[in-house]
Amino acid sequence: MTDTITIRTPDDWHLHLRDGAMLRAVAPETARHFARAIIMPNLVPPVVTGAEAAAYRERIMAALPEGSGFTPLMTLYLTEDTDPTDLAQAHADGLITAVKLYPAGATTNSASGVANFDKVRPVLEKMAEIGCPLCVHCEVVDSDIDIFDREAVFIERVLDPIRRATPGLRVVMEHITTMQGVEYASEGGPELGATITTHHLVINRNHILAGGIKPHYYCLPVAKREEHRLALRRAATSGDPTFFLGTDSAPHTDANKLLPCGCAGCFTATNTMSILAEVFEQEGALDRLESFTSLNGPKFYGLAANESTITLIKGDPVAYPDLIETGDGSVTVFDPMMPLHWKVAR
Ligand code: NCD
Ligand code: ZN
Repeated sequence: MTDTITIRTPDDWHLHLRDGAMLRAVAPETARHFARAIIMPNLVPPVVTGAEAAAYRERIMAALPEGSGFTPLMTLYLTEDTDPTDLAQAHADGLITAVKLYPAGATTNSASGVANFDKVRPVLEKMAEIGCPLCVHCEVVDSDIDIFDREAVFIERVLDPIRRATPGLRVVMEHITTMQGVEYASEGGPELGATITTHHLVINRNHILAGGIKPHYYCLPVAKREEHRLALRRAATSGDPTFFLGTDSAPHTDANKLLPCGCAGCFTATNTMSILAEVFEQEGALDRLESFTSLNGPKFYGLAANESTITLIKGDPVAYPDLIETGDGSVTVFDPMMPLHWKVAR
């Protein structure tokens, strides 16, 4: 029986660190196990320019524990007014790794996102030219589209047309949640990647809605039917280089989660690696954990995999906190509803 595995240090290709007191509380949770992360730019106001990304990067570095080797990989928030020249300069300077496309109104702090996709055409063409990847929140926002269908409809109505109109554009489908997402990503060739979160490998929509509403399982895109969760598990554990980890760890205070109109987001930074090891073991794919967490992502982004390693050891159920305290209030850690036996030893 395997009870120890050593893998290259993982990276998180989709992470929300927020700002201020929240940033200071959550940054160490990711930096403990991860070497790098793609940092989402949906602050209030959003990170739109190269100068704003540089300033945010400084605030992240200041929030890391002393001696941490963690590297934040910055992104810009695409708006209809994004300046392609500023974007290209920030990319050439190594200041940003990618650009994030939020359809306006799709999720937390997305009001400045894109409503008219024709308006960002010149920016997307510039990105294709300079090789800057576009990370896409793949959901339409039309009120007549059922929330459980928003990803599949987005692929057909928005994503596929954008990709066809912009040859050479490298695209990451962020936090895919459906078998349609898996299928489209796996047929998209080397210019298309897809991240999968930890929580979407664990929960389906019943976990949110059956037997009482569970605000801590509410995130966007919302978890779908069980058949979709199983498709995500097959994709994540397949070894296919298209698929890599983006936790979408998205902290909100409990006060903001437990409201009549509560915030979307699951906070998984604290126990992600233990959960993933458990999931991969359940799928008989522990030997592919490293591909998903540590190899496929850097390969897509044209970066070297980390030289350092982490070791996971199997033993008695791992203890982790139910919540972490932040200067803004408590944040509940994602409950995977199963004991976790794999502890990160470093
Ligand atoms: C994210 C957040 O809180 O910023 N929420 C979420 O449910 N995933 C935004 C996002 O990635 O959609
Ligand atoms: Zn996110």
